[in-house]
Amino acid sequence: MRTHVVDHPLVAHKLTTLRDLDTDSPTFRRLTDELVTLLAYEATREVRVVTSEIVTPVAPTTGVKLASPKPLVVPILRAGLGMLDGMMRLLPTAEVGFLGMLRNEETLEASTYAERLPDDLSGRQCYVLDPMLATGGTLAAAIHFLTARGADDITAICLLVAPEGLANLEAALDDLAVPVTVVTAALDERLNDKGYIVPGLGDAGDRLYG
Ligand code: PRP
Repeated sequence: MRTHVVDHPLVAHKLTTLRDLDTDSPTFRRLTDELVTLLAYEATREVRVVTSEIVTPVAPTTGVKLASPKPLVVPILRAGLGMLDGMMRLLPTAEVGFLGMLRNEETLEASTYAERLPDDLSGRQCYVLDPMLATGGTLAAAIHFLTARGADDITAICLLVAPEGLANLEAALDDLAVPVTVVTAALDERLNDKGYIVPGLGDAGDRLYG
């Protein structure tokens, strides 16, 4: 598993405002959208392309286009939905599948309550969107779900990650042959005893949707 913390002043600037307790929901949604587009630019560095011959108004030339099958973007409901538009701005022709997952706030166990994904994901690159990687349970379950259907390359885009969650995720994916990359705006300090990322930004779902 590879972790890429995007080190860019605009990412840090937007994340700082996102973290701020005084940032209201409309501003939080807008900043999430903008931040995801910046992270998506980094996250799609290995997106599969094929050579394409075109003719410009001046001369023939060789470029690239997205390979088929197109990537699958999977927002984890609910909070991941706030990241979808920012991602689709960069990959407008991607297919979208949905996973609804909820973390029990007592046990911190993740469970799946909704799923709308293609049955066969053989040979598909998948981009999973979830703002928070806290204990890592939600992302581990989502990745197992996708790879069980044949996805062969997974990139997760998270606004924030906790070191404990990354370690748990790495252990949970230990026997997985599929490459997994986590792209994030920040690796925070720790989890608190309620499983919240510290300093974090609070509950992303609540801040996006109330
Ligand atoms: C939050 C967050 C992640 C998950 C992270 O979702 O959006 O999906 O918890 O926690 P973990 O890494 O410890 O599993 P939540 O379950 O609160 O649902 P919501 O998005 O509907 O608010």
